[in-house]
Amino acid sequence: MKLSVSILSIKNDIKNKVKEIDNLNIDYVHLDIMDGKFVVNKTKGFKEIFDYVSNIEHKLDIHLMVKDVKKYIDKYALLNPEYITFHLEAVDNPNEIIDYIKSKNIKVGMSIKPNTDIEELGDYLNKIDLVLVMTVEPGKGGQYIINDCIEKVDELRLLKNAYNYKYLIEVDGGINDKTIEDCLNSDIVVVGSYITNSNNYKEKIDIIKSNF
Ligand code: DX5
Ligand code: ZN
Repeated sequence: MKLSVSILSIKNDIKNKVKEIDNLNIDYVHLDIMDGKFVVNKTKGFKEIFDYVSNIEHKLDIHLMVKDVKKYIDKYALLNPEYITFHLEAVDNPNEIIDYIKSKNIKVGMSIKPNTDIEELGDYLNKIDLVLVMTVEPGKGGQYIINDCIEKVDELRLLKNAYNYKYLIEVDGGINDKTIEDCLNSDIVVVGSYITNSNNYKEKIDIIKSNF
């Protein structure tokens, strides 16, 4: 399993704190991008975000919670991420978006909100590199996990094994030292506020990683 640390809930001294996380035992930095349309909240502009993350060593795992997906892909591809993940619910043309991300030599992730069934991903599962299962409503950090959503991880694992799909399964939202125990069937866990609200990032990261 891998750990992707969400920096969404860091409110001050962001650049230094991101660098501190980058120097620890993590696998990706998870970058949440929100447009104020697909979700109510809106993240800072590209220039500011570029400044926070352009000097880090780890690869980015970008989670787009936006409507105008192509516009954001064009911008955020400049950060050379490992993954760009978009929401199935945000687009009319998932195949076009999948091909668009691939054309930039970036791995493709698709995400579903808590109320979206995995059946809706059916046509795309053989084309994508990552499924991001939201275990909270997208839009903000620090929420409680919706336990029912974790079943989707097990279902996606069964489908993957049955059909030899190559996607990785990522879980995002409300993961901490307790809830991690229910997420061990995933490939990547996103952890935000449990780490970034603490004053000892290393200790929290080590606790999460001790479950892997
Ligand atoms: C929620 C975001 C998550 C979130 C994770 O919309 O997609 O990545 O920031 O943060 P925690 O771990 O605090 O739920
Ligand atoms: Zn996220």
